[in-house]
Amino acid sequence: MRMQRDEVIPILDFGSQYAQLIARRVREKGVYSELVRPDISVGELKKLNPKGIILSGGPSSVYEPNAPKCDPKIFDLGVPILGICYGMQLGAQILGGQVKPAKAREYGRAKLTVTQDDPLVRGLPQETTVWMSHGDQVHDLPSEFIALATTPTCPYAAAKHRSGQFYGVQFHPEVTHTPRGEQLFQNFLYEICKCSGLWTMGNFVEETTRRVREQVGTGKVICGLSGGVDSSVVAALLHKAIGDQLHCIFVDNGLLRKNERQLVESTFRDHFKIHLITSDAADQFLRELKGVNDPQQKRKIIGKEFIEVFKHEAKSIEGAAYLAQGTLYPDVIESGHGYAGTAANIKLHHNVGGLPEELGFELVEPLRELFKDEVRKVGEALGLPESLVWRHPFPGPGLAVRVIGDITAERLRVLRDADEIVLEELIAANLYRKTAQVFAVLLPIGTVGVMGDARSYDSVIAIRAVESQDFMTADWARIPFDVLATMSNRIINEVRGVNRVVYDISSKPPATIEWE
Ligand code: XMP
Repeated sequence: MRMQRDEVIPILDFGSQYAQLIARRVREKGVYSELVRPDISVGELKKLNPKGIILSGGPSSVYEPNAPKCDPKIFDLGVPILGICYGMQLGAQILGGQVKPAKAREYGRAKLTVTQDDPLVRGLPQETTVWMSHGDQVHDLPSEFIALATTPTCPYAAAKHRSGQFYGVQFHPEVTHTPRGEQLFQNFLYEICKCSGLWTMGNFVEETTRRVREQVGTGKVICGLSGGVDSSVVAALLHKAIGDQLHCIFVDNGLLRKNERQLVESTFRDHFKIHLITSDAADQFLRELKGVNDPQQKRKIIGKEFIEVFKHEAKSIEGAAYLAQGTLYPDVIESGHGYAGTAANIKLHHNVGGLPEELGFELVEPLRELFKDEVRKVGEALGLPESLVWRHPFPGPGLAVRVIGDITAERLRVLRDADEIVLEELIAANLYRKTAQVFAVLLPIGTVGVMGDARSYDSVIAIRAVESQDFMTADWARIPFDVLATMSNRIINEVRGVNRVVYDISSKPPATIEWE
C-alpha cells in the first residue's frame, strides 16, 4: 500500500519569509511537503525519497560570501527541482548562469508574459500578474536554458534547464498576490514531478490512527481538552484510534466563556462518548487570583494552578503512560526540531499550561506534521461541529486577561454576558469566519450614564475585533456600524452593570490583540 510519505517534496529553506507558505501550497495540491535545512546532504535528502525538490527564496544575494548554498550534487539526483527567487538564482549559478543585481530592487506586482509553451506554465493565461520581491535577478543564462516567461524588467521571470531537471521562477507563486500561482504548483507537482496526490486528510486520519495504535498499544492516553481547535481535534482523532483507552481532562478554571464547559461536555462526553473528567477548579483559581492586577502575574498564577489541577486529575487515571498534545508543524519548526529558517520567527503566543516533563508521560503528538488549516480539515473529516472547528483562538489564561484589573466572580459575569452578545451578533451578521478574533473586554473604570430618570455609574465594555493571517500582525476589523450598534444596544440593555460600549480601533503593532 502506498503511504502519504511515499510522495514528498522537501523545501530547502534559504530563509524566506514565505517558506512555510510554499509547503502549504504544495500540500493544498495534495502532496506532502516539509521544510529542510538548506545544507542538507544529498544522502539525507535521498532518504526522504523526494519526488521533486523546491529551493525557497531568501534574503541573501548568491554572490555574498556567507550566502547559504545547497549541495550542488542535488542536481544529480535525477528529480525535478524548482527554484523560487533566490532558489532560482542559486540553481542558475550552480548550472553556469550569471546573477547580477537588478538595476532597481523590484518589489510588487508585475505583468508576466508567457513566451514559451512548457509544462510549467501550461494553463496560465498569456499575461498574468505575479508578485516580485528581489534585488538580484538571473542576468545571463547559458544556452542550455530556455526562457519561459518574462516581465518588462526581467528577461528570465521563468526559465528551465533543457534537461527538464531544473525550473526557476523569479517571482513568488506561493503568495496570494500571484493569483495563478497555484496553477504553477499544480504543473510542477503533477506534470513535471508526476505526483499522484496522496496527501488528503482522509488518508492522514487513516495513517495517523494506525501510527497511534502502534505507539500506544493497549496503554492509556491522557489528553487535556481546552475547548480550542487543536486539542479538540487531537481528542477526536485519538478516540477514533484507541477508543476507550483515551481519557480527557477539561479544567474549568472559572475563566471560560459563557457555555464553554457545556459545549465541551456535550461534544465529547455526550456525542463522542469519550471518557471526560471535568475539573471544577474555579474557586481555586479565583482565590489565587484575588487582588492580582498585573497581567504577567495573572498568567503565571494560572499556569501554575493549571499544572497542579491537571496533575491531580491525571493521578486518578490509573496506569496512564501517555500524554496527548496538539503540537502543530509550525511549533515543531520554531522549537528547532525541524529547521527554522533565518526569517524572524516570533513565537505566536505566550502559552500557559505547558506541562512539565517531570510528569513522566510519553508524548503522543498526532498533529505534528500539520498546519492549522489542515487541522481544521481533519476536524471536519472527524465530524467535529463547525462551532469547534472554526473557532477563533482563545488565550490560555482566558477571561483573566480580558477582565482588566481585579478579577472577581461578578466582573467575570459581566464580561461573559457581554462577550456572548458580541459573538451572537457577529455570527448573525455572518462575520465570524471573516474575522480572526473578536471578543469583549471589561475595563477597570466606571462612567456616568442616564438610565430612565436616574444617573448610573457603571462599567465600560470594549469590543475588540481583528483581521489577521498569523496573529503577529493584525488590523482592526471594519465591522459595519449597524452591527456595532446592535451589539452596543444589546449589551447596555441586557447586561446588568454596563452603561457604555467602545470600539477598539488599534492595529497590531503597536497595540496587541489582547488588552493585557
Ligand atoms: P497578542 O495579544 O500578543 O496575542 O497580540 C496574539 C495571540 O495570542 C493569544 N494570546 C495568548 N494565548 N496564552 C495563550 O495561549 C496567552 O497568555 C496569550 N496571550 C495572548 C491572543 O489571544 C492572540 O490570539
